[in-house]
Amino acid sequence: MSVVILGIESSCDDTSAAIIKDGVLCSNVIASQAVHEAYGGVVPELASRAHQQNIVPVVSEAIKRAGTTKADISAIAFTRGPGLMGSLLVGNSFAKGLSLSLGVPLLDVNHLQAHVLAHFIKKSPEQDTAPQFPFICLLVSGGNSQIIKVDSYDKMQVIGQTIDDAAGEAFDKCAKVMGLGYPGGPVIDRLAKEGDATLFSLSRPHIGGYDYSFSGLKTSFLYLLRDELAVDPDFVNKNKAHLAASLQAAIVDILMNKLRKAVKDSGINRVAVAGGVSANSAVRQAFLDHSARYGWKVYIPEFSFTTDNAAMVAITGYFKYQNGEYCDINAPSFSRVENQLV
Ligand code: KG4
Repeated sequence: MSVVILGIESSCDDTSAAIIKDGVLCSNVIASQAVHEAYGGVVPELASRAHQQNIVPVVSEAIKRAGTTKADISAIAFTRGPGLMGSLLVGNSFAKGLSLSLGVPLLDVNHLQAHVLAHFIKKSPEQDTAPQFPFICLLVSGGNSQIIKVDSYDKMQVIGQTIDDAAGEAFDKCAKVMGLGYPGGPVIDRLAKEGDATLFSLSRPHIGGYDYSFSGLKTSFLYLLRDELAVDPDFVNKNKAHLAASLQAAIVDILMNKLRKAVKDSGINRVAVAGGVSANSAVRQAFLDHSARYGWKVYIPEFSFTTDNAAMVAITGYFKYQNGEYCDINAPSFSRVENQLV
C-alpha cells in the first residue's frame, strides 16, 4: 500500500500544504500573506488570523491537486517549531484535529530540519539529486542564518549561527529604509543586477568561530544613508541599484567567508544551501564559483523549495513515518531551538 503524507507548514507568513506519495511530491500549495506588506514586516497577530482563513482551502487544494482523498492519507506532518507561536498553533491544532478525525498518526517536524531536507524532495521516482551524508548546509532565511553539519536525516548539528540579525533580515531591514517594501530581499536582488557593488563600502563583522553577525552591516548601511541624505535628499533614489549591489555583495561575502572556514575545517566538500535567501542570485552564483574554485560539490534547491513550503515538511514527515517516529497528541509548539536540531 502507498504511503501518503500530508505536510502542513504555518510557521511564519506562508500557509502551505503538500502531499508526498511514496517519497514523490504530488502537490505543494502555498498561500502567501499580502497583508504584511503595508507594515514592512510580518505582524504576528495578522499572520495567525490569515493562517486560520487559509488553512482549510490550502489543505483541500493540496489533496485535490495530488489526485488523492482524505481517506488515502497515511499520516499528517506539521511544523512544530521554531517560528511564530500564534502561526505555529494554527497548523498544530489543525493537524491534530485532522489526525484524530481520520485516525492516522501525527508527525511533528522541526522547521529548520525541513529546510535542510528540502534537498530530498523528489518530483519523480527516478530523481537522484539529493546530497550524500555527511554534508554541510548553509541555512539562510528571514529568521535564520546557520551553518549545519548534517550527518543523517535525523542527526543535524548547528555549528555556527547568527548572534543577532539573520541574513534575510539584513536584506529586508535595509530594503525597508530604502523604501523598497517588504520583503525587500527579492527587490534588492533585482536592483543589484544593474548596480556597481564597489561604490559603497560597508562594514564586515569580526567575530570568532563560524558564527554570523549582520547588525554591524545594517548599522553601517543606515549611517551611510543618513550622511549622504543630509547632503542630497535624493541620494537613495539616484543610487538604488548601487546601494542594493553593495549591500548584497557584503551579505554574500559575510555568508561565504564563514562557510568556507566551516567546510575547510570539517573536510566535508558536499555543501548545500537552503532557506528563503538561497533564492538570491548572488548567493547561488557564489556557490557555483566556490564549486569551480574549491572543488565543492554544491546543492542548490529549486526556487519553489527555498522559501517556506509544506513539501519540505511532508518529506521530513515521510522519513519520520518510515522510522515510526510519531508525535504525541499533546505535543506543544515551540518558538526556538537549541544547537542540536535533531
Ligand atoms: O525561508 P523564508 O521564506 O522564511 C522566513 O524565514 O521568513 O525566507 C524569507 C526571506 C526574506 O527575508 C526574504 O527577503 C528572503 O528570504 N529572500 C531573498 C530573496 N528571496 C527571498 N533575499 C535575497 N534575495 C532573494 N532573491
